[in-house]
Amino acid sequence: MNCCAVSGTNSFFNSQARHYEKYFRKKGLRKEQKYLAEGIQQRGIAQADLLEIGCGVGGLHLRLLQKGAGRATGFDISERMLASARQLSTEMGLAAQTQYWQGDFVALHDNAPAAEITILDKVLCCYADVRELIARSTAKTRRIYAVSYPRDNVFVRNAFRAAILFFKLFRVSFHPFYHSPAEIMKRIMAEGFEQTYERHTGIWIVQVFQRKRA
Ligand SMILES: C[S@@+](CC[C@H](N)C(=O)[O-])C[C@H]1O[C@@H](n2cnc3c(N)ncnc32)[C@H](O)[C@@H]1O
Repeated sequence: MNCCAVSGTNSFFNSQARHYEKYFRKKGLRKEQKYLAEGIQQRGIAQADLLEIGCGVGGLHLRLLQKGAGRATGFDISERMLASARQLSTEMGLAAQTQYWQGDFVALHDNAPAAEITILDKVLCCYADVRELIARSTAKTRRIYAVSYPRDNVFVRNAFRAAILFFKLFRVSFHPFYHSPAEIMKRIMAEGFEQTYERHTGIWIVQVFQRKRA
């Protein structure tokens, strides 16, 4: 991602951080996050280290830590999302088990820690080079790779196309991307993973993959 796109993503999601934090405080995890948690927990999380890329305010990995995961590293481009994540992890008594990195994961991946479980929840559709993001993030994953991204149906495809057009027309600093679900799955599987879980919400596909044994 070029530096303008990174700073556009930073300022757009900075403006959303308060809303994300408020939602988590009031209602907890969203439906697709509950599915991700379910699919991940089915594979076992005891003492596992988590890597959440595009972690937002951190609700999902914080809940998994409460359920028995060991440590979590959260990456996000947005400074304010991470400020909320730090605040929530402190309030929940999980600060000693969390660390946060600000920036584009693809640019920082070299120094990122590897993890047993990697999560990208509604992040692939925020990034132009999905191929690179999948390649870099699967390379850091020892066991479980969990994702949510937009569904493949006419309604969702058109809604994303309309949003992309709207953001471009009104020169919003960030705009979303609609990547082909078939292509996303193909890329994840080509990195040595097999699928273990799938659920849908109105907008999102939620999938969990496990690294194939050699
Ligand atoms: C739609 S939000 C979802 C946040 C969180 N996963 C959730 O569901 O509440 C996408 C987040 O991904 C972050 N993001 C997008 N591309 C990223 C990248 N390449 N590296 C790190 N963070 C990224 C954005 O800054 C934003 O906070």
